[in-house]
Amino acid sequence: MNIEIQRSTTRRIRVPADQLGFGKYFADHMATMEFEKGAWKNPRIVPYGPISLEPGASVLHYGQAMFEGMKAFRGKGGKLFLFRPVFHAKRMAAGAARLCMPSPPQEEFLSLIRSLVKLDQDWVPAERGSALYLRPTLIGSESFLGVRASDSYLFFIINSPVGAYYAEGFSPVKIWVEEQYIRAAPGGLGAVKAGANYAASLLASQEAKKKGFSQVLWLDAVEKKYIEEVGTMNVFFRIGDTVITPSLDGTILAGATRDCVIALLKEWKVKLEERPISLTEVFAAHKSGELKEVFGSGTAAVVSPVGELTTSTQKYSINSGKVGELTQRLYDEITAIQYGEKPDTHGWIEEI
Ligand code: COI
Repeated sequence: MNIEIQRSTTRRIRVPADQLGFGKYFADHMATMEFEKGAWKNPRIVPYGPISLEPGASVLHYGQAMFEGMKAFRGKGGKLFLFRPVFHAKRMAAGAARLCMPSPPQEEFLSLIRSLVKLDQDWVPAERGSALYLRPTLIGSESFLGVRASDSYLFFIINSPVGAYYAEGFSPVKIWVEEQYIRAAPGGLGAVKAGANYAASLLASQEAKKKGFSQVLWLDAVEKKYIEEVGTMNVFFRIGDTVITPSLDGTILAGATRDCVIALLKEWKVKLEERPISLTEVFAAHKSGELKEVFGSGTAAVVSPVGELTTSTQKYSINSGKVGELTQRLYDEITAIQYGEKPDTHGWIEEI
């Protein structure tokens, strides 16, 4: 693929790694490509800046929008690694089909990512705990108000140097068990990284934050009985010596980090069950002292320990609010692979 490159002549604002936070700063360049008349065209890298859309563009009215979230890391000796780029290219393709959008062909998705990260390589922070977060995004761009799929699309990738996702860093977070609002319903978009899912989640998370919680625990839309996700992450429970995570039933996003956690647990011969898990089961395990650890998994925070679950009637402290042993081991192992400190036996990292 021939990518046209237009280098930026100015440098964007940069801050030291410990002040990055998440998603506040953007690197100098972005990649873009357009879909028109049935074909992807104009792959190019340009200075980061505003994009041009007509006010009638379908994304602005009917929400044809989805994205990916992945990371590039700087390892020892300055080596650059992409983490699971093929997984993300494939997940975008699967999600795009659900939203009636064409997805960038895998090789073009990967070439644009590699070229962009190479060009913006000095934006990949070196400090442990920081990374360059890549946001491939796909939107409907046709200006037309009839309700149908757009016939033109814009794909772009922006880069954001990031530190920890949660202000708490790797400390256990307090979670509100959300019994009123839902994130996704059967037959809907829950398994897709659609912007609409995040829009649907905002009010619950805003109300939880006002009550002093970091995020919410999402329950199923039908019975409000089974646990689905935690905030924007997949969720795991260690009950006794078994780890349980909700099965991918169409309402849950198939997280890249979820997949890593499952692979490592299998490798470590930890008992793992992918199945529906109810609030009742979790609270009963808490009562009997068997609920050992709860954690979320996601690209942004990697693994995030949950220190407390609170419902409208009760507060449940998990592992006395401390990071669990398995949570810590998973975080250490995944991050060591991401920074190239441990051999990658799974084919998760790609050096560029
Ligand atoms: C993740 O990587 O955990 C997320 O999905 C969060 C992202 C939308 C900022």
